[in-house]
Amino acid sequence: MSSEPTTAEELTTVEQAALTSGGDFWHTAPVESAGIPAVTVTDGPHGVRMQATGGDLLAGVPATCFPPAVASASTWDPELLRRMGEALGDECRAQDVAVLLGPGINLKRSPLGGRNFEYFSEDPILTGVLATEWVRGIQSRGVGASLKHFAVNSQETDRMRVSADIDERTLREMYLRAFQRVVTQAQPWTVMCAYNKINGVYASEHHWLLTEVLRDEWGFEGLVVSDWGAVVDRVKAVAAGLDLTMPGPDAEGDEALVAAVESGQLDPALLRISAERVRKLIEKAGKRPAGGYDAEAHHALAREIAGRAIVLLKNDDDLLPLPVDGITIGVLGEFARTPRYQGGGSSQITPTQLDDALTAITAASTGPVRFAAGYTADGEDEGLLAEAVEIARHSDVAIVFVGSVHETEGADRESIDLPAAQLALIERVAAVNPKTIVVLNNGAVLATKPWDEKVPALLEGWLLGQAGGSAIADVLFGRVNPSGRLAETIPVKLAHHPSHLDFPGEHGHVRYGEGLHVGYRGFDAQDREVAYPFGFGLSYTTFSYGAARASATATGLEVRVPVTNTGSRDGREVVQVYVSVPGSKVQRAPRELKAFASVAITAGDTAEVVLTVDRDDLAYWDTRLNRWIVEGGEYLIAVGSSSRDLRATVTVQVAGDPARVPLTAESSVGEWFADARGAALLGEAFAAATAGAGSDSPMAAMAADPGMLMMLGSLPLSRMASFPGSPLRADLLDKLVEAANE
Ligand code: GLC
Repeated sequence: MSSEPTTAEELTTVEQAALTSGGDFWHTAPVESAGIPAVTVTDGPHGVRMQATGGDLLAGVPATCFPPAVASASTWDPELLRRMGEALGDECRAQDVAVLLGPGINLKRSPLGGRNFEYFSEDPILTGVLATEWVRGIQSRGVGASLKHFAVNSQETDRMRVSADIDERTLREMYLRAFQRVVTQAQPWTVMCAYNKINGVYASEHHWLLTEVLRDEWGFEGLVVSDWGAVVDRVKAVAAGLDLTMPGPDAEGDEALVAAVESGQLDPALLRISAERVRKLIEKAGKRPAGGYDAEAHHALAREIAGRAIVLLKNDDDLLPLPVDGITIGVLGEFARTPRYQGGGSSQITPTQLDDALTAITAASTGPVRFAAGYTADGEDEGLLAEAVEIARHSDVAIVFVGSVHETEGADRESIDLPAAQLALIERVAAVNPKTIVVLNNGAVLATKPWDEKVPALLEGWLLGQAGGSAIADVLFGRVNPSGRLAETIPVKLAHHPSHLDFPGEHGHVRYGEGLHVGYRGFDAQDREVAYPFGFGLSYTTFSYGAARASATATGLEVRVPVTNTGSRDGREVVQVYVSVPGSKVQRAPRELKAFASVAITAGDTAEVVLTVDRDDLAYWDTRLNRWIVEGGEYLIAVGSSSRDLRATVTVQVAGDPARVPLTAESSVGEWFADARGAALLGEAFAAATAGAGSDSPMAAMAADPGMLMMLGSLPLSRMASFPGSPLRADLLDKLVEAANE
C-alpha cells in the first residue's frame, strides 16, 4: 500500500482498466495495490437515495425528499436551489456519498416526457441558472455533482437506443446550452453521458460531444461517467472521452481495453488519462469531511422551497387565501390524504417524514374540515363521488386534489389529460359549490382546459417533496404568498405543442423537427393561444412596472425597471427579461428569456430591479463559421411578469461580432456582391471580360441587368464558370477567391 497518492501513470494497464469501470452498482473499483479506495456514488437529484444494505434497488435509506426539479424550478430562485444543494451535500456527507447523481437538466421538449418531473424547464437559461446554483451548493460541501444526461435525453421512449436527429443550431442553442452554462460556471465534478444517440452516434462514444465540445471548447476538467448501462463498447467509449463505465464490475470490458492497448488499437495515453480522472475524483472525494444533518431543518427547507414552487393559476374574486376560522372546508380527492410528492424510478426517495395536505389543512383551520376520497387510483367509483359531492354541497369552500397518477423514468406519458374519475369529481363538486378550489399534483403539465373555466381558483402544486402537504396549506391560508412561475407552458391541447408532430419518433429515430422552437418559443412563433404561458403565476398581491431602461455594457446588457407592490400584502415578483432581435438575419424565436429575478417587495414599496444579460447569451450559433456570434443591431428588451405579460419594453443597440464568412468558389453570386471586397473584384472581372465583347455577349447582358443578377444571386460562382463567355475560368476563380479573403 503506497503512502503517497499514486498517479495512474504508476498503475499497470490492467489496474488502469479496472479503475475505469465500477466495482459494483454504486461504487468505483478499489485498486488495493495502489492504495486507491472505492467511493460511493448514488442518486439524486432531489434527495440522497442510498440503497439500504440488502434492500432492493428502490428502497433507500430515509433521507429528505426535497421538491423534485419540476417544483424547485418553479421558484425561479437560484438562491433556493443553492441552499438545496448545500443541504443535499450535508446529507451526502452523512451517508458517505462522494457524488450525487444530479442535477438532471435535459430540456422538457414535450409535456409527455416521462422524466419531466426530474428536469427543470423548457428553457435553457432558466435551467442553466438554477442548475449552476444547485451544483455550487452541493460542491461547496465537498460532494460532487453529476450533470445529466449529456445530451439530448428528452424522452424515455426507446431511450437506450434512439437517435435524437437534431440540427446543429438547435443542439447548441437549446439542448447543450444549459450544460455549457453549468460546466463553465460551476465545474461539476462529473458529467453523466446519456443513453441515446445524437445524430446516429451513441453519447457514450461521441468524441465530438465528450471531448471536442465538453473539454476542448467548454474547458470541462472533471470526469465523464456513463449512465448506468449506457456503454456499448468500452474501447470506443474511452477513445471518445468517457472515463468511468457504470455500473460495474465489467471484467470483460476491462480485458477488452487491455487488449486494445496491447494491440495498438487504443492509445495507452487515453486509458491512462481516464484512469487518472477516476483516481483524482476519488482523491478529491477523500477530502470531504464526514458530517451529519438536522433532519427537521432540512424538512423545513423542503417546505420553504415547496411553498415557493406552488403556482397560483387562477384566483377569481380573491377567493384565496382562505380564512383560518369560521368556515367549513370540504377536502376532496385521495391525493389530499395520500400525497403525490415525487416521481418513479432512480430518483425515488424514502422520506424522513411525509406531510399530507389533509392533516395540514385540518391543523390550520379552526372550522370543521371534512374529507372524501372522491376517486380511486383505478378510476371512477360512484359511491366515492357521491360522498364527495355531498360534503362539497354542505361546505363553505371545497378543495379538490387531483393530479397525475404516475410519472416515471423509463416511460413517457400518452396523454396530458386528467383521469376521467378526477374530471368527474371536479365537474360534480364545482356544480354544487361555487367556491371550489382545485389543487394539481403532477410531475408534468396537465391540460386544464376546459374544466378550469368552472372553478374560481386553481393551484399548480407539481410534485412538492415530503413537505408538500404543509406547503399547500401554507399557500391556501396565506402563510405563504404564492410566487411560483411556470417553467413549462401549459397548452390548451397537446396537439398544439410544437414538439407534437415529432414525438417520440419511431424505429430508432426521433426528429427534433420543431428545431429552435422549443416550448414557448414555438407557441409564440405560431402565435398560438395557450392555457397558461411560460413564466406565468399569480400572487395574493399585485405589481406594477415603471419604465424600463437598458444599456449595453462590456459584458452584455444591463436592464433596470422599477417594480411596485401595489397590493396590501408583501409578496414576491419574478421579473423576467425577454429579448428579441427584430432585424435578425437568422431564424429566431419571437422572444427569448435572457434574465430573471425573484424579488421580495413589501406592500406599497417600489424596488429598482437590476438584471444583467451575459453577452454570450445574446449569441446565436453560426453553422457557417462554427462558432457563437452576437449580431449587431437593435435589440428589443421586454420586461414582464410572464412571457405573455410584458409590461415594459425598451430598445438597445448592440455591437456585433465580426462575422465575415470567407468567400469561396461555392459562395453564391449574391454573397460575392453582398461583400464589399467580393463585389469590387467580381465587378472588375465582369468588366474586364466584357470590355472587348460585343453587347450581344450573354455575359455583358447579364452584368448590365440587375434583374438578371438577382435571378442568378443564388448561383455558386463555380457554376458560372461553365457559362458561355464567362470570364470565370478556374484559374481566375482561384485568384478571385484568394484576393477576396486577403
Ligand atoms: C438511471 C438514470 C440515471 C441514474 C442512473 C443510476 O438509469 O437514467 O439518471 O442516475 O441510472 O441510477
